[in-house]
Amino acid sequence: MRTIEWKGDAVYFIDQTKLPRRLIIAKCDDHEELARAIENMKIRGAPALGVAAAMGIALAAKNSKGKTADEIKSDLVAASKRIRSTRPTARNLFWGLERMERVWRREKDPSKLIDRVIKEAGIIADEDVQLCRGIGRHGAELIFDGDNILTHCNAGGLACVEYGTALGVIRSAVAGGKKVFVYATETRPLLQGARLTAFELKSEGIPFKLITDNMVGYVMQKGLVDKVVVGADRITKRGDVINKIGTYGIAVLARAHGIPFYVAAPSSTIDLLVRSEEIEIEERKAEEVTTVCGKSIAPRGTDVLNPAFDLTPKELVSAIITEKGVAYPPYDLSVLLGKS
Ligand code: MRU
Repeated sequence: MRTIEWKGDAVYFIDQTKLPRRLIIAKCDDHEELARAIENMKIRGAPALGVAAAMGIALAAKNSKGKTADEIKSDLVAASKRIRSTRPTARNLFWGLERMERVWRREKDPSKLIDRVIKEAGIIADEDVQLCRGIGRHGAELIFDGDNILTHCNAGGLACVEYGTALGVIRSAVAGGKKVFVYATETRPLLQGARLTAFELKSEGIPFKLITDNMVGYVMQKGLVDKVVVGADRITKRGDVINKIGTYGIAVLARAHGIPFYVAAPSSTIDLLVRSEEIEIEERKAEEVTTVCGKSIAPRGTDVLNPAFDLTPKELVSAIITEKGVAYPPYDLSVLLGKS
């Protein structure tokens, strides 16, 4: 099934906090419930956040009591503001809201407005599947038969609608008949690698080993890794990559060992406007670090630093794979987006 979809009058999604033990399909009837699902990491992963944001606007339109287009639009402005406040770092969430706004701003007829908005959210979800397949196709060209690939966090179907970005590249290479082996980092503090990437790889029968985050240097030094492929939450015009905390360290190690470091993401992750130093890196609550699966592991009152993402400078990135192709440095990402 899809990670997130609009069915009837509601949004259905896989509750990612319950995996891998239980596969629970949850339902949101309004944008407030959906915003909380994003804050609580039930829906997560940059592309999925873009789709969820769009579906949140569709829910707000469906639930609006407004009689005129202007009244409905003022509900959509409020819903956008709420959804914007959920998570600050992934560009895709804001991209989804902006794309929806371009649709509803234009519409003057109230019932057409609601239909258009719901339809657009569905189009965005369908497009995500196609874009990820495109990323997979292009990225698979960089993967050789027999490659050992390290990936971090979860950039799979669960982080998108269906196919995944970094895992999409791996899936596509496997579908093309290449034998690959994957090293998946557990990804503390929330263990997206152990819980989600391991779940996806196991379900697909792609051979892998789960490693803790501090084993990356070891496996590279032992010559066990040929390539790194990760996803991204935001890519700046300069080509810097913001992704799950720990990505930067992996990129430094990859460079030290002469291992190519690839980033796979849809073009909706690229932000041409913001400078790297202006991007807000989400800080999450201390309990995520002081506990593991609900069990306390540190003395009570321990002070914690918990940034959810870090920045990998473009100098450490070997290529960026989007649905439009593979971009090698020195890239001009505005050309890639057709906005030069
Ligand atoms: O905090 P998360 O789980 O939403 O972070 C997800 C990541 O950092 C992924 O690597 C990124 O979104 C790419 S997903 C295709």
